[in-house]
Amino acid sequence: MKFFLPRDMAAVALGADAVAAALTAEAARRGLAVELVRTGSRGMFWLEPMLEVATQAGRVAYGPLTVADVPGVLDAVATGAAHARALGPVDDIAWLARQTRLTFARCGIVDPLSAEDYAAHGGGRGLDRALALGPAATVAEVTASGLRGRGGAGFPTGIKWKTVADAADAQKYIVANADEGDSGTYADRMLMEGDPFCLIEGMAIAGIAVGATQGYIYSRSEYPFANATMRAAIAAARRAAMLGPDVRGSGIAFELELRVGAGAYVCGEETALLESLEGKRGQVRAKPPLPAHQGLFGRPTVINNVVSLASVPFIMAEGAAVYRDYGMGRSRGTMPIQLAGNLKHAGLFETAFGVTLGELVEDIGGGTMSGRPVRAVQVGGPLGAYFPPSLFDTPFDYEAFAARDGLIGHGGVVVFDDTVDMRHQARFALEFCAAESCGKCTPCRLGAVRGVEVIDRIAAGENRGGNLVLLRDLCETMKFGSLCALGGFTPYPVLSALNHFPDDFQAPALPAA
Ligand code: NAI
Ligand code: SF4
Repeated sequence: MKFFLPRDMAAVALGADAVAAALTAEAARRGLAVELVRTGSRGMFWLEPMLEVATQAGRVAYGPLTVADVPGVLDAVATGAAHARALGPVDDIAWLARQTRLTFARCGIVDPLSAEDYAAHGGGRGLDRALALGPAATVAEVTASGLRGRGGAGFPTGIKWKTVADAADAQKYIVANADEGDSGTYADRMLMEGDPFCLIEGMAIAGIAVGATQGYIYSRSEYPFANATMRAAIAAARRAAMLGPDVRGSGIAFELELRVGAGAYVCGEETALLESLEGKRGQVRAKPPLPAHQGLFGRPTVINNVVSLASVPFIMAEGAAVYRDYGMGRSRGTMPIQLAGNLKHAGLFETAFGVTLGELVEDIGGGTMSGRPVRAVQVGGPLGAYFPPSLFDTPFDYEAFAARDGLIGHGGVVVFDDTVDMRHQARFALEFCAAESCGKCTPCRLGAVRGVEVIDRIAAGENRGGNLVLLRDLCETMKFGSLCALGGFTPYPVLSALNHFPDDFQAPALPAA
């Protein structure tokens, strides 16, 4: 019998390791020969730990399981009897079936530590095609796909690669930004835990495309499972000649190292990340020069988010047109949207751009876990705007969100019900900025601290009208005067709270907890 159970951090937090141990022990007690593969997660967190069983007709699932369910599930598997936790064929689970999984196609299916399993599920074909096409045609293919930076800014990946490819330096670098600090986001983590070879392949393709022989993955100490998986996968990729001095026998070298940051949000900003990679304090550099011209150790550097790089193997394997055909407007392909917060069905939902915020929250997410009405949805991490239900017709698209003073960021969607206090949320954004500011520029370093004080005066009822004007003025200064997105984007949650939920700023302060 062959079983699959996630070792994904979220699944483990929900008891997957205990279920795995119980399954192994119970099978041994019954004298059953079982193979248990620890996979990544399919991303349906309300069903974790979700056990999958290989059958003649494909995999069937049971979940969410506790240790106490294990003997009954083994009985059901052996006899074909019904079980209260049976979910049927995995591919028929509606939440999965309605997705378009291009980047996350293998996540939750393959053994994340097996290069052979990766190849058996179509991995490596993109790398082979890139080697066959050569650098210029590979850059052209990525450009033609319409892929834009999935870290948040949405800059065209192909143009970034071309800038580095055109640079004359003998030494260039590829850096994967895996410092996933946005609240409510976990796509980078899931990909690294569930399909690490996909990131490795994407980085190797980037190296071939721009002429870089060394790559770094900059991850975070909060991701111990992802880091352990990445390290093991890098070693396995070397053995499989996906990395090393002679990638796939091409004579082209590409090496990769994992580096782990110590947990500063600002190190997700690309120039602070590069400083940290160089062994310095993670502080933002002024741009220009862009990293594409002078990046790591002053050399031309492609720095892309994990999801951007992991989207490339599909594009190279299937062709730019297949990817570009998904999406809307200038947002091409798919986005792994991460549903979180007060939601019945929170999890990773990869779909083509164009799905509306309302569909994501009410339909796919199933509304709030609390059963109360949705009041606000923050899209794009702690620096993203709050959207009220009146804006639920906004399609998931870079430009559509920008037109409504929001951003899709890294695809995090955090839902709040009608008990949320939006003045408190606005204060939280400024407090967060004050705590995480690198301190380099004045609008952010001082503005965030002053902003918290202004909101406290508003809450205390001190000159509300004047302080509300002051708060908006401060937001304008931070938005246009800050050196990087941390200070520059903090006004988004504050202004959206002010604009969409003005009554909350007139209410008396809540009593201290
Ligand atoms: P940006 O717009 O300055 O740059 C985007 C990217 O394009 C950078 O890599 C930049 O170097 C590159 N670029 C720009 N012009 C270029 C050119 N002419 N040639 C080559 N490359 C060029 O945005 P930034 O400050 O890098 O990122 C801001 C975004 O980060 C926000 O939208 C926010 O959503 C997101 N963010 C994501 C977080 C996460 O956890 N993933 C955390 C915080 C913010
Ligand atoms: Fe540093 Fe904040 Fe200025 Fe960014 S905006 S450079 S985090 S002080």
